[in-house]
Amino acid sequence: MFLAISFIFFTLFCCYFVYLHKRIHYHFEKNDLKYLPGVPVFGNILLSTLGRRHNVEDMDAVYKAFPGERYVGYIEGTKPVILIRDPELMKRITIKDFEYFADRKEFFPVEIAPLLGNSMINTNGYKWREMRLNLSASFTGSKMRQMFPSMVDVSENIVSYLKSCQATPVDMVDTMRRYANDTMASAFFGIQVNSVENRNNEFYKTGKDAADFTVLDKVCYFLAVQSRLLAKVMQILGIQIFSMKQINFFRDIIANNIKLRKQNNISRPDFIHHLLDLPGDWNPDDITGQAFFAFLAGYETSSSILAICIHELALNPDIQERLYQEIRASADVHKELNYDTLASLKYLDCYLNEINRKWAAAIVMDRICTRTYELPPPREGGKPYKVMPGQLVYNVVNPVHMDPKYHVNPEVLDPDRFSDENRPNIKQFTFLPFGMGPRRCLGLQFATMQMKLILYQMVLNFEIQKCEMTTDPIRMYPSVLIIKSIGGTWVRIRHRLRT
Ligand code: HEM
Repeated sequence: MFLAISFIFFTLFCCYFVYLHKRIHYHFEKNDLKYLPGVPVFGNILLSTLGRRHNVEDMDAVYKAFPGERYVGYIEGTKPVILIRDPELMKRITIKDFEYFADRKEFFPVEIAPLLGNSMINTNGYKWREMRLNLSASFTGSKMRQMFPSMVDVSENIVSYLKSCQATPVDMVDTMRRYANDTMASAFFGIQVNSVENRNNEFYKTGKDAADFTVLDKVCYFLAVQSRLLAKVMQILGIQIFSMKQINFFRDIIANNIKLRKQNNISRPDFIHHLLDLPGDWNPDDITGQAFFAFLAGYETSSSILAICIHELALNPDIQERLYQEIRASADVHKELNYDTLASLKYLDCYLNEINRKWAAAIVMDRICTRTYELPPPREGGKPYKVMPGQLVYNVVNPVHMDPKYHVNPEVLDPDRFSDENRPNIKQFTFLPFGMGPRRCLGLQFATMQMKLILYQMVLNFEIQKCEMTTDPIRMYPSVLIIKSIGGTWVRIRHRLRT
């Protein structure tokens, strides 16, 4: 009896998903949109969901299948998405006609990540506008200048640590995670940690556990994103992707920090200070949510890009030498490093841009349609498509960065693409590592400063060399979100003796 009922339910379940899948095909065909059929439940993201290839590669397959289209249909699990391929249309959607696409999809379903429910990545409408306005004030150039000295301290800890690592290959994924962790602990949570010396400190362990999703976390996340009903069921069952232990750990840091500052009248130029200074009623959980999101937003992105930066330097000694010459010349003139000197290094800027082009962590700029909008026909002779409120639109980033139509020999790492001379030749909206328009990355200035600072220190102090464990060429690890090399980033470093 039990078996028979299970079988009936299973069959109904399968029929429902096949129906959903076919309904998406019907919608695309009816509207004359090209698409790749995919499979029920997973749509076009089967291989990345199973960890067989990167999410970017799933999207790239759809992007490449229809070179003549301005936009196509994409099936993300059980959801139909309009995939925008054309830079001109991206400009309209993210800037010119922003009011039609002002919202973003819920990144962390509030049912399984309540602390992040109020964070900016999750909010839309009026609430988002107000929050963006307020939080932007925490990320201006002058705020970055104030945070800079404590970031320099962290970068010097890394240099001291690496000086003792010259005999054996060094794991740069791990080192850069520790750097990202310590800079963000300082900037967003107001605490100093040295994770290369105190390797098992509680902040590092908890932050790493929170950012490293287990297989179970990934399954829960996948299901909750697919269906509000499933997300609600998980909420009732008390399933969360961040454990109470992790949440309480970050809550306590913020609460103690606020108490200490109030009791001792301490003013520290960091994120908490700026949030406490903002108008409105910010309770400690709101502040914890924002700080926790900022930490998550930058931890994996910055550290994984930095590991790739170092990997590519080991594989490209000529580029490394040019970078060294620029940094060394600047260090000789400016005895003490400051924010403006760092920002003025042109080749360093070109190098980071080129890494962000070739290995963009961005993947897509997602937008949700808020008012009915008519897209021009996807091809000459085609018919316009009406995007309806609530519909999800993806402006693709990585496939455009790697399209030879926009970037000649895209596989070649060439920082000179971004030189003063060449940059004007880059077509608008074909370089989007931090997104575009009013919803572009809020942490852009912070992340850029954080990444440039450690690259400066690494290249000034060490020669980064390929070793027997360095993979060449770099191939993308089949993860859903992070950009990482298969086999990690292992290099040998040699201390440069300054004469
Ligand atoms: C290298 C590191 C980072 C990269 C590559 C990156 C990239 C991105 C991208 C591509 C978006 C979507 C933009 C769009 O849709 O137009 C985004 C959004 C966002 N990022 Fe970052 N990000 C990084 C670090 C950070 C950091 C450190 C923070 C900390 C505050 C942060 C905060 C945000 C926020 C709040 C949003 C949502 C903005 C909104 O919806 O208004 N990001 N980021």
